[in-house]
Amino acid sequence: QQADLGVLGMGTMGANLALNFADNGGFTVALGNRTVEKAYGIRDSNPALAERLVPADSIEHFISTLKSPRVVVIMVNAGKPVDEQIDLVLPHLAPGDILIDAGNADFNDTVRRERAIKDTGIHFVGMGVSGGEEGARHGPSIMVGGDQAVWQRLKPLLEPISAKFDASPCVDWLGTDGAGHFVKTIHNGIEYADMQMIAEIYGVLRDGIGLSAGEIGDIFSDWNTRGLQSYLVEITAVTLREKDPETGKPLVDVIVDEAGQKGTGRWSVIEAQKLGVGATTLEAAVSARGISSRRAERAEAEKLFGDIETARAEFHGDHDGLAELEAALETAKIIAYAQGYAVMAEASREFGWNLPLGGIARIWRAGCIIRSRFLDDITQAYEAGEVVNLLQSPHFASRVREGQASLRRVVAKAALAGLPIPALSAALAYFDDYRHARGTTNLTQAQRDLFGAHTFRRLDREGVFHHKWPQV
Ligand code: 6PG
Repeated sequence: QQADLGVLGMGTMGANLALNFADNGGFTVALGNRTVEKAYGIRDSNPALAERLVPADSIEHFISTLKSPRVVVIMVNAGKPVDEQIDLVLPHLAPGDILIDAGNADFNDTVRRERAIKDTGIHFVGMGVSGGEEGARHGPSIMVGGDQAVWQRLKPLLEPISAKFDASPCVDWLGTDGAGHFVKTIHNGIEYADMQMIAEIYGVLRDGIGLSAGEIGDIFSDWNTRGLQSYLVEITAVTLREKDPETGKPLVDVIVDEAGQKGTGRWSVIEAQKLGVGATTLEAAVSARGISSRRAERAEAEKLFGDIETARAEFHGDHDGLAELEAALETAKIIAYAQGYAVMAEASREFGWNLPLGGIARIWRAGCIIRSRFLDDITQAYEAGEVVNLLQSPHFASRVREGQASLRRVVAKAALAGLPIPALSAALAYFDDYRHARGTTNLTQAQRDLFGAHTFRRLDREGVFHHKWPQV
């Protein structure tokens, strides 16, 4: 039996992707896995698709079932497992074959792997896939890197399995080598920021107003009908309303407040820093997960500082109070996305990718974890003309102008009441920094020149200057 492509790695994501290729693509798919029984198990538990699923008994068998030129999709955990799979399959491939890494790779690894393979004539493609398990099975958002010519061959395979927004497939080629994985990394950084800001507003509603999880769930559900409409807000409402079958309490109330992370959020912040772009909301989100994981230490700190007198929280659960929180979250969200987009814009210049920023918003509108109505707004902002920064595009500029006062009030009130809102306050601080033509780093420059003769430029004259400062 000749398979149209093969998937290596039958974990949940790999298996679901393979089933998606067979189901929505109508393709015959070879299933490769270290434990062969798992591949057979996946075929056997999907009888309706069984004739298009070909479990492989060995890597040789896997390869022999594939039509030539071959397409192999690796879907395993990022890092060493990817290199192991590449080493396993590469000796069996021939020039013209396509090897895809569909995991959450560090784009630096993708660039390295592509370079290492290039001379063999085998094409290596780093491909970001978003949408979790459900997305992989029924329609993810797919961010493709590698050679553009290879994309032309992959398009017919990927379009049928991707999510659709108004019938438009949420998959595209974004740029050479690591572009696809880089964009996926920034997607995850934005995902972290979005989730953190939602959690902070949840904290205000819970600790600042004293609402129950169920009540907060209803509020998010209402917000999901307007500007904040998104998958993440939708699942926020679902998770908050869910009851623990054992205790009958809201399930979130019995879940430990320590967030896990697999690395992609952190990479997004590292890359932003390397590029010199301030992605402060993403940073705040990654740091907040770090702090959350030091639970015992936080308990000690509460003993030490818990009694500090703070102002009474001036948050209210009435119509106006909730509208203020809604506007604050929406405004901070715009700022967070603008930061993520600024990182991608800089990476595009730095790595010569020519990333289609509007196109990225277009393929994020459905399938991925950050899918939302808002991403359609971003798509339109890019379609309307050149965008220097999303905050300066007419649509978002007016939304931020309108919402900033709410964000300012929420941040100020939370600060006075001692409620932690690291990402929301980072968003506001960034915005205030960004909107000042005259900043304060003139002083930094003066200090640097004093202690290290690092020189400075002047407002009134061209050139580079060093001043003989008084000796200290
Ligand atoms: C997606 C998700 C997915 C995964 C993240 C979660 O786009 O489908 O981002 O890739 O859920 O890796 O990351 P953490 O485990 O770091 O929260």
